[in-house]
Amino acid sequence: EKGGYDYFMLKEIAEQPKAVADTLLGHFQDGRIVLDEQRISDQDLRDIDKVFIVACGSAYHSGMVAKYAIEHWTRLPCEVEIASEFRYRDPVLDRSTLVVAISQSGETADTLEAVRHAKAQKARVLAVCNTNGSQIPREADAVLYTHAGPEIGVASTKAYLAQITANYLVGLALAQARGTKYPDEVAAEFRQLERMPEDIQRVVDSLDPVREIARELADSKSVLFLGRHVGYPTALEGALKLKELAYMHAEGFPAGELKHGPIALIEDGLPVFIVMPPVEGRGVLHSKLVSNIQEIRARGARTIVIAEEGDEVVRPLSDYFIPIPASTTLLQPLLATIPYQAFAAEVAAARGYDVDKPRNLAKSVTVE
Ligand code: BG6
Repeated sequence: EKGGYDYFMLKEIAEQPKAVADTLLGHFQDGRIVLDEQRISDQDLRDIDKVFIVACGSAYHSGMVAKYAIEHWTRLPCEVEIASEFRYRDPVLDRSTLVVAISQSGETADTLEAVRHAKAQKARVLAVCNTNGSQIPREADAVLYTHAGPEIGVASTKAYLAQITANYLVGLALAQARGTKYPDEVAAEFRQLERMPEDIQRVVDSLDPVREIARELADSKSVLFLGRHVGYPTALEGALKLKELAYMHAEGFPAGELKHGPIALIEDGLPVFIVMPPVEGRGVLHSKLVSNIQEIRARGARTIVIAEEGDEVVRPLSDYFIPIPASTTLLQPLLATIPYQAFAAEVAAARGYDVDKPRNLAKSVTVE
């Protein structure tokens, strides 16, 4: 059943090209993005003036990634919030607010209650969910299913990439409804998404060096993850994976915050992961990260850099260099997250832990 893999998680990492491809399937018809269920009228969709994304765990990180795309494509303000925080405060919601609830299981108690809280305030709710017939999509006004298939490993992998993919479809659907993107631009974005599984496959096929790095660093006390823009939620996801699976202290930071605290943590030999933005068209982000890497190296950090295969600027600044295919900035998390998944799984295995069933965690948290 594990298809020759030692753990379900490794099988699920390998299934990511298919998870992304299947999630896109059938959602572009007659030149338009279509959702699975839509009980919100086109007019109401056009009238949306604010987006809230609510979720827990990795699903929350996928929402953080989506914020960059949604604001960029739709020009709507978009906030991302942990469901358990959202439901116990008093967020400003009305009938022109769209609340996007992201959940693999569709049963997470806090996310479900966040949905109910939103509906009670007349907000429209759109669910991004991996499980047909689960509670969150049943209570939502619109649904987009991720098609990752069943995920057994407690730490999310293929469901996470499928969520990012689905979230982008939500962003494009909104941009299409609002007219902030021309039909041919929406089509071009969709085509780009459709090309991703091939590059995802290339990353999946080249994870052996990452596993080797994991075995070398398996005794580390602490690991930091840095990134900017969509590389920031990717850093948080990398740190979460390592905490969940390897029980290792790990933290993700926006690289620009280094000087405001985290740099004090840098000491000789501390492993620091960095995702580099794509080289093309980045403007200032790439060079900002180069400076950040120089700053932490000067203080003794060991840098493990995920960057485009052609990024010759950063290669000499990397103690370990993990190449990924070139992509646009927004699509990069679909590639850059994968080495983090493999790293965490391999560290956990090297430390003798159960990769699929980490201690104290459940796949679906249906109680608070
Ligand atoms: C956690 C799981 O408990 O719940 C994570 O371990 C998951 O993998 C999170 O991201 C949210 O779950 P769901 O089903 O709402 O996406």
